[in-house]
Amino acid sequence: MLSRDDCKALDAADPLRTRRALFAMPEGEIYLDGNSLGVPPIKALERLKKAAETEWAAGLIRSWNDAGWMDLPLTLGAKLSRLIGVDEDEVIAIDTVTINLFKLAAALLADRPGAIAAEAGEFPTDNHVMEGLSRITGAPMHRVAPNTRPKELPEDVTVFIKSAVHYKSAEIADFAGYEAEAKDRGLAIVWDLSHATGLVDLKLKDDGAKYAVGCGYKFLSGGPGAPAFLYCAREETPRLEHPISGWLGHARPFGFEDAYEPDPGITRWRTSSPSILALSALDGAVDAYEGVDMAEVEAKAGRLGDVLLERAGVLGLEAACPPKGKRRGGHVVIRHEQGYAIVQALIARGIIGDFRAPDLMRFGFNPLYNTYEDVFEAGEALAEVIETQEWDQPQFLAKKAVT
Ligand SMILES: Cc1ncc(COP(=O)(O)O)c(C=O)c1O
Repeated sequence: MLSRDDCKALDAADPLRTRRALFAMPEGEIYLDGNSLGVPPIKALERLKKAAETEWAAGLIRSWNDAGWMDLPLTLGAKLSRLIGVDEDEVIAIDTVTINLFKLAAALLADRPGAIAAEAGEFPTDNHVMEGLSRITGAPMHRVAPNTRPKELPEDVTVFIKSAVHYKSAEIADFAGYEAEAKDRGLAIVWDLSHATGLVDLKLKDDGAKYAVGCGYKFLSGGPGAPAFLYCAREETPRLEHPISGWLGHARPFGFEDAYEPDPGITRWRTSSPSILALSALDGAVDAYEGVDMAEVEAKAGRLGDVLLERAGVLGLEAACPPKGKRRGGHVVIRHEQGYAIVQALIARGIIGDFRAPDLMRFGFNPLYNTYEDVFEAGEALAEVIETQEWDQPQFLAKKAVT
């Protein structure tokens, strides 16, 4: 097992070590929940302040033009494109993950009538929103077994929703393999990149992926409820009909025409007035990735996870994610029947992770700001909390609404 000194040595040699200074790290805490809500980059806070005080309060209506507000979903989308391995004009930062899933799936279903499929055990919203789409369109919805491959889907499926990194197990999908099978079958995969963006070295275009949505508040650290983004391959967009045909997806929104004529490019996926304050925070946050090699980010996340999994193994705990040394997303999952109370006891010590029912403790690592020593420290605390049964106190056992 790695010692504290080993971890310090790894930190000293870490090519990403200077990035931590870009974040407003919480004093005296170890934050291992960047896979749920990232620590704010200092630039995100500054950008938010500027957007509120200079652009909004002073610039007022002029800022739609002068501060680039109207194009912010596109300029930010262009910045995000590098992180997912697609071109700049194929991404728009807008709306939420759920809404973007609906937009793409509904457009794709209209383009290729058939059935929709999502896995059992997917992040619930992915199933819920597809069920809703099924109800209003009459298209059948199949809830398939976890890890059903495209070639194994029911014959009538034309649209398949799939997480790139599973929110519980942290398994990373086989993008290229799935896309090759989808192509053979003529079905479209909409990738949910929520747990992958800003963490996994995504190369969507190389892998043949054409449609994806992703989240701004996890590894990207864009703030609570930060805007999401939508990727649609350039050649696909003109054919697809945005189901929420709002004025800002129009080719000429300031022509104020009665009839809807969609923009031919990525702007088509815009619906309404963009949420500028939220987009500004995310815009500032994403700059923390400037010049960062995503392969390095993914590799470091794996190594950070290995440190905790090794410790958990020594404690006799079961990992509910790919084991040490195997490719996984940015979190590890450790099973314990008292997982909720253990996580609460760790939080009381300033070590922040989270819990997913029924018995899964999740610890997430953002390689831009988490250190090997952080993870070593968390492992020590986990051992103490379990060995001394520190978790067995009423304040840790009482369940809160958000786990
Ligand atoms: C995989 C996944 N998809 C979707 C969502 C929901 O995103 P939103 O609240 O933006 O709709 C989450 C939220 O945690 C998620 O983890």
